[in-house]
Amino acid sequence: MKFEIVLHRDGVTENVEFNYEKREADERPMALDVLLQAQATTLPDLAFRYGCRARNCGVCTIDVNDKPRIACRARVRDGDKLSPCATLPVLSDLVVRRDGIARQMQGRLPSGGGANDLNVEAPQAYHDLTACIECYACLDNCPMHARNFGDVKPTDAAADDLPDASQGYRWGNPFSLLKLERIRLDPITSQADKDAAVDNAVELGLDACVDCPGCKCGVGIDLKRQVVGSLLEAAKDRL
Ligand code: SF4
Ligand code: SF4
Ligand code: FES
Repeated sequence: MKFEIVLHRDGVTENVEFNYEKREADERPMALDVLLQAQATTLPDLAFRYGCRARNCGVCTIDVNDKPRIACRARVRDGDKLSPCATLPVLSDLVVRRDGIARQMQGRLPSGGGANDLNVEAPQAYHDLTACIECYACLDNCPMHARNFGDVKPTDAAADDLPDASQGYRWGNPFSLLKLERIRLDPITSQADKDAAVDNAVELGLDACVDCPGCKCGVGIDLKRQVVGSLLEAAKDRL
């Protein structure tokens, strides 16, 4: 399969042709597969971004035939053109500057606006919690989460003996608390919704945190202080 890859280097644009070798006869590659193979073969210094490879992080977005597509999930066809997002400045090849969008929000404090005033800057604590990649590593050794399974280790039990995951588990975990704390820190959340977030944390089993040594985050978020400690403080009259 032939593709056109648009390179940008030092202000110079060059369109190169790349022949993608299918790994299986009926393969329909994603745009990211093409870029990875190009880098592994004929274009070793090709610059592009990707993270989760599962349409979660968004950093792989490029233009395919001049329309933005999420490269890790965009199936491409013979002859397609892969180029950097045309809406942002290019740093190198298919890598664009994204920080101008995030920085745009800095310093725009609430101007008395309500839930519709999106042009507000969240506190740093909120941004800290957005680092969560939903890996669920923090569920390890969480007594609140373990309540869902009684004394059974989920991996040791037959599926029929486990609670029905499709209904959502009854008891919470560090990740669910992080989501609730993030709601509380979001400047566009109403006070009623902030209060409801604390209610939800209590309902999910926040009392389990009272005597717990704390949880550990896979990417280094300070769950003990920034999530659990904060929610315990907010709910202290009820625990
Ligand atoms: S502090 Fe709370 S959320 Fe963290 S591991 Fe303990 S029980 Fe789970
Ligand atoms: S370990 Fe950290 S990054 Fe992973 S789900 Fe838990 S809070 Fe999020
Ligand atoms: S690599 Fe994360 S969305 Fe594509």
